[in-house]
Amino acid sequence: MSLLSLRDLHVYYGAIRALEGISLDVNAGEIVTMIGANGAGKSTTIRAISGLVRPRQGEITFDGASITNLPPHQIVMRGVSQSPEGRRVFANLTVFENLELGAYTRRDRSGIVGDLERVFALFPRLKERMYQSAGTLSGGEQQMLAIGRALMARPRLLLLDEPSLGLAPFLVQSIFEIIQDINRQGVTILLVEQNANQALRVAHRGYVLETGRVVLADSAANLLRNEEVRRAYLGE
Ligand SMILES: Nc1ncnc2c1ncn2[C@@H]1O[C@H](COP(=O)(O)OP(=O)(O)O)[C@@H](O)[C@H]1O
Ligand SMILES: [Mg+2]
Repeated sequence: MSLLSLRDLHVYYGAIRALEGISLDVNAGEIVTMIGANGAGKSTTIRAISGLVRPRQGEITFDGASITNLPPHQIVMRGVSQSPEGRRVFANLTVFENLELGAYTRRDRSGIVGDLERVFALFPRLKERMYQSAGTLSGGEQQMLAIGRALMARPRLLLLDEPSLGLAPFLVQSIFEIIQDINRQGVTILLVEQNANQALRVAHRGYVLETGRVVLADSAANLLRNEEVRRAYLGE
């Protein structure tokens, strides 16, 4: 049985149809990537899973139970957290305070301290800048903070929306390595990326979205070899 499953998800923004029946599965332990052009519906899918937009139709199941109509904080408490597109950190709060906020649904103080250490081990820069306000961080550091904050909820499923967007090339490489490290530590990952090449290299499976629909689903290795994918998304 899959950890996360979406069945026939339809999402609208007013009269604008963003998702036209998305179905996908993420199994425990996997990195699954969603690739697709701007406007394909990747972020909307992530927001629907997090409870930030309500589907008009369809079902979202996590760990065997429906989370379709739960409020966002309850979805976090079930074990799903996201690092949103555009690294929305709280600029006026310190790095430490941003990380603490990621753990706001938790009661286990001792576990939180351990996870803080785990985040600092993944992102040593954040430890160096612990008492700096987040607004003074570079773009790459803010991205690390957004991911670190999501990890502080101790998710079983981590949703990453465009983690490499706008980063310097050397940082892009390290973000993808860190994503693999997080996965090896036992966190299942649903990864949205414009950088399809890198995403498919770290993922086990992938889904290709076009205008709110899944048009291809396959192993990441097969998608990397697929002629259409290569032409449309890998710039070949
Ligand atoms: N807040 C919003 N209000 C209205 N339309 C939106 C909003 N967010 C996204 N859309 C529309 O929904 C569709 C899917 O967008 P999005 O999920 O952001 O795609 P992606 O993340 O793949 O670029 C697009 O047509 C986009 O213009
Ligand atoms: Mg997006």
